[in-house]
Amino acid sequence: MSNQPIGILDSGIGGLSIWKEIVTQLPDESTIYIADSKNCPYGTRTQEEVYGLAKLMVNFLVGKGAKIIVLACNTVTVSCLDKLREDFLKLPIVGTVPVVKTATEKTFNGKIGILSTPSTASSAYQRHLIEQFAKNCEVINLGTKNLVPFVEKGETNTKKVKDVLRKELDKFIVNKVDTIALGCSHFPFLRKAMETIMGKKVMILDSTGAIARQTKRVLANSNKLSSQPSPLYEFYTTNGSKEFINVARKLVGNEMAKKIESVENVSLS
Ligand code: DGL
Repeated sequence: MSNQPIGILDSGIGGLSIWKEIVTQLPDESTIYIADSKNCPYGTRTQEEVYGLAKLMVNFLVGKGAKIIVLACNTVTVSCLDKLREDFLKLPIVGTVPVVKTATEKTFNGKIGILSTPSTASSAYQRHLIEQFAKNCEVINLGTKNLVPFVEKGETNTKKVKDVLRKELDKFIVNKVDTIALGCSHFPFLRKAMETIMGKKVMILDSTGAIARQTKRVLANSNKLSSQPSPLYEFYTTNGSKEFINVARKLVGNEMAKKIESVENVSLS
């Protein structure tokens, strides 16, 4: 048993989609969330750059006493999960990838779309995932840099974001995909807008629930689940805590927003 916090990182605010699930599934756990908003987006950076930045965040979370790290960012996961595990040998690190296998199980017509950042879409990790699980499906692997900035501003269902989304999702519509796997932690916040565009028959899957379950499993297996009656939630950003807190509260919904009491600015380098 350990009452140390779960450390959660993302390039920005998107990882709160995973934070929310973790807090829901693990209500006794304290969490520390760090957003590298200053260097966001990560999805157009090189894997080496992403690795360097992610390492700084892991170090920060370790300094704050994190007992486990959740990479609430697909781009970080596909860029450097293995390297980070080598760097922090004793620290459990959970990564996130799109639920490609589930998508292949859910699809009726064998046509699935994966929506992620450009870096994730072109990564060897994603290619491997597709080869491993989706050989029998037609996969539209779509990377875009145009959506993350909207979520960072808290713009998730405006006309402007829907116009951009419509253009991006056109490739899925033309190819008649009936199942979409979200491969970026920012994108679950765009679910409503996506549903309006794709219609009710297209299933949109994200990995937030799976990551929270995996985190719980890893903690249980290492006997590190907490027994804390009143857990603490800390939030850090590398740029503009005021904007972050406003957008964060808006994105996570009323109940969860109460848990975001303050956000602190930090410098990591
Ligand atoms: N939220 C991140 C992901 O899951 C990265 C978004 C970005 O910074 O480009 O990929």
